[in-house]
Amino acid sequence: MRSGSAPVILSSPEAAPRVKRSSPRVAIPLGTGRLSGGSEYKVHWNSHETVNGHTLLVGGTGAGKTHQLTRFATALGQGGIRTLIVDVHGDIHPDCPTSTVLFSESTEFGLNPLAVSPDPHHGGVRKRANSFIALLARQMALGEKQKSALYRLLVELYRSYGFEVDKPDTWSLDVDPRTWAKSRKRHPTLRDLTRHVENKLKAMRWGLSGQALVQFQEVQKLQKKLLGLRVQDRQGHDVLDKLEKAKSAAVDAYAEALDKMERGDELDELLGWETPDAIKGLWDRLCSLEASGIFRGRAPAFDPGCPVWRYDISPLSRAEQQFFVQCLAEQQFYDAKERGEAEGPDLALIIDEAVNHVDDDDDHIVNVMLREVRKFGVMVVLAAQELGTFPKPVLSSTATKLLLGIDATEQKAVERRLGLEDGKLRSISPQQTALVQVQRRGAKAQQQGYVDVNVIS
Ligand SMILES: Nc1ncnc2c1ncn2[C@@H]1O[C@H](COP(=O)(O)OP(=O)(O)O)[C@@H](O)[C@H]1O
Ligand SMILES: [Mg+2]
Repeated sequence: MRSGSAPVILSSPEAAPRVKRSSPRVAIPLGTGRLSGGSEYKVHWNSHETVNGHTLLVGGTGAGKTHQLTRFATALGQGGIRTLIVDVHGDIHPDCPTSTVLFSESTEFGLNPLAVSPDPHHGGVRKRANSFIALLARQMALGEKQKSALYRLLVELYRSYGFEVDKPDTWSLDVDPRTWAKSRKRHPTLRDLTRHVENKLKAMRWGLSGQALVQFQEVQKLQKKLLGLRVQDRQGHDVLDKLEKAKSAAVDAYAEALDKMERGDELDELLGWETPDAIKGLWDRLCSLEASGIFRGRAPAFDPGCPVWRYDISPLSRAEQQFFVQCLAEQQFYDAKERGEAEGPDLALIIDEAVNHVDDDDDHIVNVMLREVRKFGVMVVLAAQELGTFPKPVLSSTATKLLLGIDATEQKAVERRLGLEDGKLRSISPQQTALVQVQRRGAKAQQQGYVDVNVIS
């Protein structure tokens, strides 16, 4: 800068005008109908005209959900939208180049629920650790103590892999603050976490300072027992004897722990770890999760040349499928945020039997996605047999709804949830007709209602 001249103000990256990524234009015919005057109308899902790309298909068994999902995947893939299918039954086979990875106990590929996103605003160690804990807590009972212990364990694990909670530059694989590291930086995996918890457990059970704590607890127990006996006016010589021995063992263990102290924060650390039982419970849960085989560190090897990627998770149990879908959705959500804003969808996530993968918690990842992910170029397509547990935000966030013949026992409930008049669903013939709603940008509310169509075969 020339001296004396006014300082040049450089615009920060935030201040720069945001350029939205362009995205392919795709239209998918949903059906045709006839007006009372006899003229025909066609209803389309359109990537650039609907309020958002999110789509909900509802239909009883055999009504045609898989058929429609397959049609959607084919059209989206052919149109250039990267399409991810979560195939829970292994029966969605689009008519365009599709790369499939089968997930089972013996698969070599998996999702890594511990991969940290380097994004300074949306990513990082704290977010990942908290998401992982929330994910785990949805699947298995975790006490508050176990949650806080797991958080500490995760932070410790991440630090040992070169990811620091409060240093965003270390969230990338390219920055490694570890001067002692022998190998290239990588994300820790579920297996690494299980090993880490196991080591902690061993240290607590058999470690030196752990041993001192155990002895201290033994002294406390005997002291209480002795007090109880004295209240009853009994002698308790044998307890007194044991108490003396326990005290002496505790003194030895403490002397040894003091002798071996290295870092100076051993006691603080130990006090934060609660009891070994809580950690043991945590370790058991992580082991069973690891045994499912779906959280291996090796990313699935999909063919980048194929527009459709099919995650065949049919061999997994219901609980494993749920965990898998949540992990995948989270990964896609954070990746999409990192890619930035797009003018329309360039990634589709298709989930069959979606009732198993949503719940009414606002923070549930599928709800979060439906609310926030549209502007980052992601559309979500959900298929379900009924709407029982679908939270309201899911229903109001999907601009396109295709109602395909719903079982008589569910009709009333679905009508109520969608605000349809009584008996409206009775007229649908499975595999032939449907009620369709497509909310279009700029259209008036009265033009956004449901219409009857003959579906596409
Ligand atoms: N619109 C349609 N045109 C022609 N065949 C259809 C149509 N919808 C469904 N089918 C056929 O009906 C059967 C059941 O459909 P499917 O999609 O498997 O139902 P769901 O997934 O809802 O249980 C399949 O053989 C499918 O090919
Ligand atoms: Mg089906």
